Amino acid sequence: MENLISLVNRLQRACTALGDHGDESALPTLWDALPSIAVVGGQSSGKSSVLESVVGKDFLPRGSGIVTRRPLVLQLHRLDEGREYAEFAHLPRKRFTDFAAVRKEIADETDRETGRSKQISTVPIYLSIYSPNVVNLTLIDLPGLTKVAVEGQPDSIVHDIENMVRSYIEKPNCIILAISPANQDLATSDAIKISREVDPKGERTFGVLTKIDLMDKGTDAVDMLEGRSYKLQFPWIGVVNRSQADINKSVDMIAARRREREYFSSTPEYKHLAHRMGSEHLGKVLSKHLESVIKSRIPGLQSLINKTIIELETELSRLGKPIATDAGGKLYMIMEICRIFDQIFKEHLDGKRPGGDKV
Ligand code: GDP
Ligand code: NA
Ligand code: MG
Repeated sequence: MENLISLVNRLQRACTALGDHGDESALPTLWDALPSIAVVGGQSSGKSSVLESVVGKDFLPRGSGIVTRRPLVLQLHRLDEGREYAEFAHLPRKRFTDFAAVRKEIADETDRETGRSKQISTVPIYLSIYSPNVVNLTLIDLPGLTKVAVEGQPDSIVHDIENMVRSYIEKPNCIILAISPANQDLATSDAIKISREVDPKGERTFGVLTKIDLMDKGTDAVDMLEGRSYKLQFPWIGVVNRSQADINKSVDMIAARRREREYFSSTPEYKHLAHRMGSEHLGKVLSKHLESVIKSRIPGLQSLINKTIIELETELSRLGKPIATDAGGKLYMIMEICRIFDQIFKEHLDGKRPGGDKV
């Protein structure tokens, strides 16, 4: 049985390929019903670094200031074997094996939408990475929250970014990866501030503490990591990403992960927490959680898909067959995809049920 997360990934990609999310069709509702994980936090809190270490690859544009200016929907697909590669939805037939080229394409595609300005756009970039070294996961990288506009940006940018971030994380199906730097007071964390707004009980927020290695001498993150500073339903996870100096020296991801592991297991304050710290642990926790959320949503997704099929059938008969228009062809394809997924979900439920009674 195909992994559930990759099934939902395929469904998301089908939605993307066939209609912009934001279209007049039933797709936006379907998209919103699919669970995903959004990364939020202040500028330079370490969002891109966390994403890269979960993926285990360097592929995100980096630099000071506002680098991420469009949402990046990143789908990770685990391969049993073979060479890793990346694909963009806007370049469907091109396989990238050079991840420096992936980074360049993200930057170029950002500019194509926003111009070479410091403007932001709500139109997402869709990137899939296929690799034996990733867990199945869908992550959304969002522009960093800021307090002031910089030169070349309209004053409205502070609120524009906040509204964009909110539009993703307010959806009940969104799992929030809230990134806070450990070398700043948690009370001032942008990530906590906005996630608390949409998820006051911390039921779908994973707190991630970065820059633990940069804390002032004589202070430590134990209170934060043990949930005494700010309580969430899930345990806080601490990470140590590469510093700017490491990046300049091209310290690779494998070395960085090893060093991160050593950091937690050899620091006396964190030894007792080491088993639930670090980027690798974070990746596993998220994948497991996403899988269980999807499982719990299958019945809901099924009925939504069935409703979509009915709506599309109505729409198609209104257009009249045989379908000549582009719109009709598109609707027809979407309906076919929905049927396939309906079937797959049914089989999945059957496989899980003793006796395999039909739904
Ligand atoms: P973003 O703006 O939130 O995406 O933040 P980045 O991931 O680009 O990180 C901003 C800067 O902080 C970069 O220079 C990173 O190297 C550095 N950084 C991020 N996380 C850590 C960490 O855990 N430890 C150290 N020492 N530096 C970090
Ligand atoms: Na940055
Ligand atoms: Mg970034």
